Amino acid sequence: MENRTEPAAEERIPTVSGGQDQDESCIECMAQTDATPSDANTVDRRDFVAWIAAMSMGATAVFAVTMVGRAVVPPGRSIEGKTKVGKLAVGREDELEPGKPVLAEYGDDVLYVVKMEDSSLKVYNAACPHVACKLAYNESSKEFDCPCHASSFTIDGKLLGGPAPRDMIEAEFEVVEGEIVVSGFRV
Ligand code: FES
Repeated sequence: MENRTEPAAEERIPTVSGGQDQDESCIECMAQTDATPSDANTVDRRDFVAWIAAMSMGATAVFAVTMVGRAVVPPGRSIEGKTKVGKLAVGREDELEPGKPVLAEYGDDVLYVVKMEDSSLKVYNAACPHVACKLAYNESSKEFDCPCHASSFTIDGKLLGGPAPRDMIEAEFEVVEGEIVVSGFRV
């Protein structure tokens, strides 16, 4: 008959909760790093919370930049408009009075937006087609006059006289839900 005795308590391999025996080398590992399974979970949770916080701060920063951009750009303008002009709303059709040209900005260009007496719309570049001086609208003569070399144009952009080689430069535009949206110039 085999005479087996239970090992003394100090000779047993310690176990983690759950009752499974641990490999001795792993136990040494944990002893060296002072880590425990619950510590590992805590670290994972900390990493996760830090990741969530970083993502939240990133989203907040993007939102703030967008709102600041909107706050400093007046209606009818776009952030993009300063560097690359594409489609840009320059005013509302229902705010125009027939026969009274209104100035508007389109990127680095200045426009005349005109509602004609028959309610049709015209949009011109305000730069004279000679050497680009800014045309002035003369209310009494109902003409656009150039202050540099005296070219003049009718309210519908036709050249009346002076050294300008052509009529006023017209803009391509469409009316979208009452907004006059310019997309470029006819050259
Ligand atoms: S720039 Fe207008 S006529 Fe010369």
